[in-house]
Amino acid sequence: MPKSQAQAIQLFDSHSSTYTYLVFDPDSLDAVIIDPVDNQIERDQKLIQDKGLKVNWALETHAHADHITSAGLLAEHLGLKTAAPEGCHIGTASVQLVDGQMISFGAFALKALHTPGHTAGSMSFYVAANEGGHVFTGDTLLIRGCGRTDFQSGSAEALYHSLTEILFKLPEGTTVWPGHDYQGRTHSSIGDEIKNNVRVAGQTKAQFVATMNNLNLPKPRRIDEAVPANLNSGLRQDAGGEPVRNDVLSIRPADGYAGDVSPELAWHWVQSGEAVMVDVRSDAERAWVGFVPEAKPLAWKQWPVVDVNPEFDAGIQRIAAEGLKIVLLCRSGVRSVAAAQRASQLGIEAFNILEGFEGDPNAEAHRGKLGGWRMRGLPWRQN
Ligand SMILES: [Fe+2]
Repeated sequence: MPKSQAQAIQLFDSHSSTYTYLVFDPDSLDAVIIDPVDNQIERDQKLIQDKGLKVNWALETHAHADHITSAGLLAEHLGLKTAAPEGCHIGTASVQLVDGQMISFGAFALKALHTPGHTAGSMSFYVAANEGGHVFTGDTLLIRGCGRTDFQSGSAEALYHSLTEILFKLPEGTTVWPGHDYQGRTHSSIGDEIKNNVRVAGQTKAQFVATMNNLNLPKPRRIDEAVPANLNSGLRQDAGGEPVRNDVLSIRPADGYAGDVSPELAWHWVQSGEAVMVDVRSDAERAWVGFVPEAKPLAWKQWPVVDVNPEFDAGIQRIAAEGLKIVLLCRSGVRSVAAAQRASQLGIEAFNILEGFEGDPNAEAHRGKLGGWRMRGLPWRQN
């Protein structure tokens, strides 16, 4: 029987024409997701579950300017690890990738290739296979084109080198999976691009640089919003430590649930008997990291199961039957929003506790230093 090969599923976000990839070992079902998009997170989680994939990693090819990554949310929901190129300065990624680093999934591994030019940190990811292998090129190499080099530390000279000396040195049968396509094309091959890529085929470095420097493209529509968000793995800053600093008993309205409350206000309500606190983290998280003794545990999801806990609806309705409002706690305020929205759909007055138990990761990817229940000195215990 032939040895099985790594497989890839290509997914498309039509708003930004972005391709996301699930790359997996068909035997073990260990998987990696490359360049996931925030508004596709439900589609991606459904597919991951339907295929039974165990996604261990979310990788970024670079800090995108045209869409926001869902890597931070996927880490929260699936317990996966995030990795991004070191040169992109995405401080929230748990691993900072360097050239040549291997990211394994089952019997296979993707090799990180530093391919600067579109941005200084940009990487491509390569996995070998008997018949040619696959390379995920982000915006470095597109089908018959390449990413722009006129913003975000781009360099036409560097891109020429990355294309001709790194990517075009891969086996010609390697399938090219780009980060975008605006004309419905899905993939290409290294051999095809060496011959037919209009930007670079038959062009000297000087000609390529002149072309790239005269494209006069409009600024990407979402760059001012997307790049800062992507430097934070797509996690919104408003789950962070800033908003409640001056007014610790704060509340503000939210979409689809009763509101966001500061940890101090949530605790005040619990102590005064106005609210019940529900901890929606998994059993394992509470055991490892610590818990609030007064909170009732009701997991939103139990790792590694991707699906929402089938007991959640009945559990939250039972708690709400006490007639008090509900304040929901998770690790950093992501799952508690999802849980608050669900509870609200069930007619329950449910609030999200900002920052969660541990707060967002800081620039060194350590949690517990940027706010959160524990850092604010509110009561908790460890087993
Ligand atoms: Fe890009």
